[in-house]
Amino acid sequence: MNGLLKFITCGSVDDGKSTLIGHMLYDAKLLFADQERALELDSRIGSREGKIDYSLLLDGLMAEREQGITIDVAYRYFTTERRSFIVADTPGHEEYTRNMAVGASFAELAVILVDVTQGLLAQTRRHARICALMGIRHFLFAVNKMDLAGYSQKEYKIVEKNIRKLAVDLELPYIEVIPVSATEGDNVTKKSVHMSWYQKKTLLDYLETVDTKDELKEPGFVMPIQRVCRPNAYFRGFQGQVASGSIAVGDEVTVLPRGEKAGVQSILLADRPVEYIEKGHPAAIQLDREIDVSRGSVLVKGADLKVSSMFTASILWMDDEKLVQGKNYLIKLGTKMLPATVMSVKYKMDINSGENIAESRLYKNEIAVCDIALSEKAVFDTFVNHREMGRFILIDRITHLTAACGVVEHSLRRAENLTWQELDITRQFRGEKMGQKPVTIWFTGLSGAGKSALANEIEKALNTRGNYTMLLDGDNIRIGLNKNLGFQEQDRIENIRRTAEVAKLMNDAGLIVLTSFISPYRSDRMKAREIIGSADFIEIYVSTPLEECERRDVKGLYKKARDGKIPNFTGISSPYEPPLHAEIEVDTSKYTLEEAVEYVLNKLQQYL
Ligand code: ADX
Repeated sequence: MNGLLKFITCGSVDDGKSTLIGHMLYDAKLLFADQERALELDSRIGSREGKIDYSLLLDGLMAEREQGITIDVAYRYFTTERRSFIVADTPGHEEYTRNMAVGASFAELAVILVDVTQGLLAQTRRHARICALMGIRHFLFAVNKMDLAGYSQKEYKIVEKNIRKLAVDLELPYIEVIPVSATEGDNVTKKSVHMSWYQKKTLLDYLETVDTKDELKEPGFVMPIQRVCRPNAYFRGFQGQVASGSIAVGDEVTVLPRGEKAGVQSILLADRPVEYIEKGHPAAIQLDREIDVSRGSVLVKGADLKVSSMFTASILWMDDEKLVQGKNYLIKLGTKMLPATVMSVKYKMDINSGENIAESRLYKNEIAVCDIALSEKAVFDTFVNHREMGRFILIDRITHLTAACGVVEHSLRRAENLTWQELDITRQFRGEKMGQKPVTIWFTGLSGAGKSALANEIEKALNTRGNYTMLLDGDNIRIGLNKNLGFQEQDRIENIRRTAEVAKLMNDAGLIVLTSFISPYRSDRMKAREIIGSADFIEIYVSTPLEECERRDVKGLYKKARDGKIPNFTGISSPYEPPLHAEIEVDTSKYTLEEAVEYVLNKLQQYL
């Protein structure tokens, strides 16, 4: 019996994908009798006029039955005499690339359906490319609907030639091409009597015998930690699943990212002590020494993983919103989740021609190579070296949807060689010397909401109290430090990032910092909070309504914006995302300036 084979099926709508798999299950007698009868009955009212409609077998979801398309990943498990299989049936529709990528990340082999009457479609190329990106190395192209092409060898050869060319373009390591008819069953489980010119394996025969275990030479033992468990005072176990290699009691492991070493004292496999554990098993490991291990730490032995905060990656963009350089996302890398930024898109790939296009905008379903910066050093590897430690997803911080999936191409050395230098004279030390808590008071709100006026008055009041302060004002910083930035989304992101870094330095110098920037994006303000440190960050939402700001129009900008003379103007032609949990909120349309100042100063007391 060969080992388990995990595969994915991909095809465009109407390629006959579900029918193919359904036929395979049926012929291989893998159905329960009642399911079979149900199928026959169902087919009478189905699309094949009384003949069995094999695609019904795979229709786990009602929606597919109703719309005629598959809309989610359906995993099926089946066994023949020679092998066990799990198949991820994924949708062909362009909309559902996200599901396809999920299915592909689990599979070792892809069955890609090509309709012989249509030839290679852009969709086929996209699917093959995504599968390759997600690390699949074995591809089986099923050239379907041979019955409709009169089982013509000539027509098959034309499609086959294009497939082989695609395989070269995409550098697919292992490919097989088989002519089939999914509805009639030719070359699915039985040799076709109509295509004597094809003498190689049937689809099922190939799937039962293909060896996919060849090339994965993941070096050494790797186990990313999911949870630290401490059931009693004597036991502290690190739980996770072994991602590669094996480990035994008595072995020495290194705990990344810090690099401390310890011996394995005991191993628990489902609460049972064992001497040894290997890839794929969930385990709890107890070390013989107290060291700092938490979720996201990685136990390794004999594996050379990277510990760095920057890498170059290939990503598949899946969000409806386009990618914005500099925007802050969450990255899930191994078991670690942390903030990350796509610093720059180096180029994107033309799905059809495979050419690299110099372009920094990235839209849904596009693939690009880009540089990613993490908020701190984390453990990873290149995808070529280690599948699990080399892939990641990016999550939108506001919608919590997966925005992209990707694989690490290489670590960026410039980050590997930087180490944060701990200094003895700290923020706290300097603050205490000045007799204050160095915090950043971050004002956000529309242009004309009264941020700058308020910040100015608050700064004066703090100085009267004897505080040492600095006010960073949007317009002023844009005239100096940020003079190279405009008002497009990525410029605003960079404007806020730089400002937060400057505020942080000034906090480190002991000062209380006030900032007055529209800072329209929630994720940027979250990032500013992280840069400065949550405990030292006070967000003040100046919530004066747009109508009032526009009525005041102190700088005459709203009028110009309404006249179409200023593009991307916040509140008019560019969004403002109000804070959900600001420490303080004040609407200056309801108070005089003095009242607003007094209100904010009062509220500030508890934070200073
Ligand atoms: S932010 O969005 O990047 O935070 P910032 O606070 O630095 O903006 O700058 C806003 C100031 O720039 C406004 O008060 C206004 O004077 C000026 N400005 C010029 N063009 C625009 C624009 N398109 N949108 C908003 N403000 C603009």
